[in-house]
Parts: sequence; C-alpha cells; structure tokens
Amino acid sequence: MPNVVVIGAQWGDEGKGRIVDLISEKVDIIVRYQGGNNAGHTIVIGDEKVVLHHLPSGILREDKLSVIGNGVVVDPKVLLQEIIELESAGYSANENNLKISDRAHVIMPYHREIDMARESMNGKGKIGTTGRGIGPVYEDKAARRGIKFADLIDPDSLSARLKDVLEERNSYLTKVLGGNPLNFEEIFQEYVQYGRELKRFSCDVSTLLNKSISNGQNILFEGAQGALLDIDFGTYPYVTSSSSGSGGASIGTGVSPTKIDTVLGISKAYTTRVGEGPFPTEISGELGEELRQAGGEFGATTGRSRRCGWFDAFALKYAAQINGISWLAVTKLDVLSGFKKINVCIGYRYKGQQLTSFPSNNQVLKDIEPIYLEMEGWKEDISEAKELSELPIQARKYLEKLEETTGVPIYTVSLGPSREKIIFLNEIFS
Ligand code: IMP
Repeated sequence: MPNVVVIGAQWGDEGKGRIVDLISEKVDIIVRYQGGNNAGHTIVIGDEKVVLHHLPSGILREDKLSVIGNGVVVDPKVLLQEIIELESAGYSANENNLKISDRAHVIMPYHREIDMARESMNGKGKIGTTGRGIGPVYEDKAARRGIKFADLIDPDSLSARLKDVLEERNSYLTKVLGGNPLNFEEIFQEYVQYGRELKRFSCDVSTLLNKSISNGQNILFEGAQGALLDIDFGTYPYVTSSSSGSGGASIGTGVSPTKIDTVLGISKAYTTRVGEGPFPTEISGELGEELRQAGGEFGATTGRSRRCGWFDAFALKYAAQINGISWLAVTKLDVLSGFKKINVCIGYRYKGQQLTSFPSNNQVLKDIEPIYLEMEGWKEDISEAKELSELPIQARKYLEKLEETTGVPIYTVSLGPSREKIIFLNEIFS
C-alpha cells in the first residue's frame, strides 16, 4: 500500500470523507494536513451519519491512528465538543488513537469575531466564508502573531502569547471593524482549561510520521476543501486560506514529498460550490434546483445551499495538473439519474477564443463561455448496481467521457452515501 494523498478535485464537498473512510481500512495512519472546522466530512455507516470537522475520518476505525498535522488550525472548544459527540455515537478519541501536532495553530475567539464582522461588512466583496475564523487564524500565523497548540497546553506560554497579541487584535476589532474588545482574563481562563483537556493528544507529528514510514507503516493524507479553493491555485480571493492541494500534505505534516506515492482526487459526477466566487458551469433556475434537491446539496458545516452545475472537465484537468492526480473517485453518479441530457464542460471560450489554460483572472473566469459536450442521460435508478456492467450504457459512456476529457482514470464510482454503495473500476491499493 502506497502513501496516498486524498484531495477534493473541485470546490470542496466532493464526498472525501466517505472515500477516506473506505481506503483508511488499508492504511495504518490517517492525517489531516490543512484547514480546520470549516470542513465537514460526512460518513454514513448503516443508518448512522457522523459528521467530522477536525477529526480525520480514520477515527471511525478502531485500530487506526488519526493525526492532526501542523498545517491544520484547531478550534479547541469545537474539537472537544466533536470528541464528545463522537463518543456518544459509540466511537472513541483517546491518546492512543489521536495525536495533534504541537505546531498546529489555534483558533481563538477573536478569529471568529473578525471573520464574522468582515463578512457582514463586506457586502459586494463578501467571500461567503464558513465564519469559523479560518482566514484570520492563518493570517495571524503568517503575521507571526499566532498561538500554537504547544502554547495552548502550557499556561505560561498561553498567557505570554495572548498578552502579546490580544491588544493589537482588540484594536483592529474595535477601531477597524467596529466590534467589541475581548477580555484577556476571560479568554485565558477558558482556554487554559481547554489546554488541560487536550494536552494528552499533543505530539511531535513530523517525527511520529517519519518514524512510522521507516517502520513500514503507510499513511493516508486527508485533504479538506478542494483544489479550486487552494490559496495559491484556487479562484482567489474566493478561496480558503490554506494549501488544500496535494502539496499541502508535506507542508502540513513535515513528511517530505519524496515519501508520498500517489494522489487520489475526489470529484462529484457534477459540480457544486458553496459561498461566493466564479463558477463557470453553474446551472441557474429550475434545473439547478432540481440537481440541488436530487443531490441533497446543503452544507454539512453551515447548512447553506450549495450552488450546482455540470461537470467541469477543463477545471478538473487543471486540478489534476497542479496536484498530480493519478486516480479519480467519482461520487454521486446516482444523483444524475432522470436527467434527460447531461452536459460536460470540455473547454472555455473567452472573447471568441478557446483558452488553453485555466484563467488566473477572476474577471476572465466570470465572463468565459463554457464549451459543452451534450450527453444522453438515463432514467433508471442505479443506486443498487454492484458492477460497472449493471449500469445503463449511457452512464458507462458518461464515465468514459469523464476519463477521456480529464485525462485521469477512474478508481471508484459511488452510487449512494453508505459504505457499500460503491463500484471499483480499478484496484490500486491491493
Ligand atoms: P473559509 O475557509 O471559512 O475562510 O471560507 C472560504 C471559502 O471556502 C468559502 O467560499 C467557503 O464556502 C469555502 N469552504 C471552506 N471550507 C469548505 C468546505 O469544507 N467545503 C466547501 N467549501 C468550503
């Protein structure tokens, strides 16, 4: 089994949780490497649905080690709540199966306040963030005024760091954003307690993972969000604030790229996006609504309606190039049943010219005209199919077209949320 990175190949919400859950059976360690509780990974086991925000999806498998890398931002209050909910669903997160990097940055109350105040002020320039403080915490990390997990679990460091940064953050919050200042003592007392509760998970993650690799263990790096929300390669500024592509796996864990073997991209059989920003294949009106209802496209983290559109092979090809995607897991093919015609976007036209690469300029992206290939749909309910040959010919042709237009072979196709509703087209992790 290789060391594998699993990433979203679109704008997030591709169904990574369930694919990670599936292949986590074959690895020893599952690591989250970026993002925070802006993510919502939904896994359905039997009749039960578990939504994870910080915790790697491997936490649902008893004998696996789950790790939160240094590139992740941790909201201790939410994480503790998530652990309680996990336990009430019959699973466990303890010091033997969960490790958190002592270098991970901590989401503080002023990060959430700043995120929400900006979003409510921004009007037209609104990003449509999840409001979890993600942008502000990564900003503080880069500005060298962050608080690390190592500080959170040490009261003296927490006090010193918080004193250093709170005055400046309060000044920004009150003078620029018109908010209320936060109180040092209240935050300190609350967070020192979180630190006490979480200390048992603290770990030098890079050393742990590198030793494990040397000992022959294998690792699954679990990306959050998606390639087109990446801070460098996404549709900036309508992106998240971390490296959500495969490159983030090294930065966010301290494991070198030479130790990563393969990249699996997850994509829906169509496209969705939450929040603002360009979306060339978005379907407006009734048809878009029909797709949203059929796919249950409402966010796992914020409950917001997802915008829905056709599969964008041109954007996916770009994601494959940046991230070295070697295999594709296509999710929710069953949702397309009943659509008479299904479009696949195979290119972009701008001012009459066909583009040769994915535009970096959002104004261009906003004005491009998608070039569609129209395909025949199918009427049958395909959710019970166990093999490719059981799918209607139109569905098989559709999958072939996705492979052909993206240049990436398909590993699996899923036909429903539960663990068994999946067809394997190739066996790559034998
Ligand atoms: P932030 O990560 O909360 O700052 O939000 C920035 C952008 O990324 C917004 O458009 C969000 O809707 C989007 N986003 C963040 N996390 C996710 C996710 O897990 N799935 C889909 N979109 C996300």
